[in-house]
Amino acid sequence: MSNFYTPIDVLVLGSGGREHALVRSILASASSGRVFASPGNGGTALDAANVSVDINDPAAVVKTALELQVDLVVIGPEQALVNGVADALRASDIAVFGPSAAAARLEGSKQYAKEFMDRHRLPTAEWAMFTDPQSAYKYLEAKSAPIVVKADGLAGGKGVSVALTMEEAYQAVRECFEGRFGEAGSRVVIEEFLTGPECSLLIFTDGHRMLPMEPAQDHKRVGENDTGPNTGGMGVYSPVPIVTGQEHQAMLDVMQRAVDGLSADGIDYRGILYGGFMLTAEGPKLLEFNARFGDPETQVLLPKLQSDLLEVLLAVAEGSIGDIQLEWSNDWLLSVVLASAGYPGEYETGKLITGVDLAESLPGITVYHAGTALGEDKKLYTAGGRVLNVTASATSLAEAQTKAYQAVSMIDFEGKQFRSDIGSKAILGRSAWS
Ligand code: AMP
Ligand code: GLY
Repeated sequence: MSNFYTPIDVLVLGSGGREHALVRSILASASSGRVFASPGNGGTALDAANVSVDINDPAAVVKTALELQVDLVVIGPEQALVNGVADALRASDIAVFGPSAAAARLEGSKQYAKEFMDRHRLPTAEWAMFTDPQSAYKYLEAKSAPIVVKADGLAGGKGVSVALTMEEAYQAVRECFEGRFGEAGSRVVIEEFLTGPECSLLIFTDGHRMLPMEPAQDHKRVGENDTGPNTGGMGVYSPVPIVTGQEHQAMLDVMQRAVDGLSADGIDYRGILYGGFMLTAEGPKLLEFNARFGDPETQVLLPKLQSDLLEVLLAVAEGSIGDIQLEWSNDWLLSVVLASAGYPGEYETGKLITGVDLAESLPGITVYHAGTALGEDKKLYTAGGRVLNVTASATSLAEAQTKAYQAVSMIDFEGKQFRSDIGSKAILGRSAWS
């Protein structure tokens, strides 16, 4: 890698728990120099420095990176990737961790992702794509519920409707074409309904080789027992005990074939490829690809990584992982999201947060910030839907769960909501899903 004795200055784009975890791990790297986050949050303000810039504007990001004279830009969220921020940085000779806009279509267009999966024979749900409501309704007439309706483009995680009745399916199609998701809904993918536990497998890739991370499992629904509306993710753990060795191997094979497919398609991919799988009775099937680190998956994956993160990020950015091997601790990691009352709907912000330092003084506890802001009084205030990620590390999943909830009870803000069952199904075992 680059000269080990020259500190590497890094700009991390984003403001979630994922970005705070990236900042913490980069700061722990032997070669890290100045670290900035943009726009960042209360946690990155305390640990590094926040810089204000519109991260979805490629030219503005290039200008900021040049002004700050950083050696590497790490892109957190998908919109910046889809908007071509990585392309603009590369065109200005600035090293960047994150795929090009063309490559990020794997996340930015469901149709593109499904065509890619079919072209490279990657297992996924049967699907069809529509550009007008009449053809979509006609297709639905021949199908039965449950069935899944997806807006083609990025819709902030809200574009997927798992329709349990045909009425819901027709309504979901109608809403897409009536413009509920804007341009993102002008194409609609209708998909076979799959069942089974979900599991995420993220890999670092330079477009040729992959370095897999450990499997992780998110909890997407807002309510206990996986009820209520979908959210960005309410809690996560890693590794995933209910995944069999055979399933794990099958997911690794799918991801390697995906990397081979990118290379065969002539796509220069440098970043994370996130495979969202469902563990069906017929084996793991892909629900989606993301072109970035998961949030909150990153908050349990990076603390397990023993290798120097910055070295890996730079190697990927330079387009060559070389012979790097990743080392992982044997610990179990579990993270509980504390959210504002009302999330994922409307919520209030500006509530005083107390107890974070106390919680972090417990052994094995790290609190990653998401929607927090540092006030002029140097106190922490809520500033978003998902506020904090209370993360525990322990020698068993059950112990990690106990420790995380101990820490959760020490933190307070008005309207604090969280799920009290993160990890519970996994501790019960696979039968908890049937
Ligand atoms: P996606 O954004 O494609 O990951 O979809 C969001 C969520 O919708 C997933 O995490 C699943 O819980 C659910 N989902 C997506 N596709 C399917 C499918 N084909 N069958 C069942 N559930 C699905
Ligand atoms: N945790 C789900 C995601 O990052 O998309």
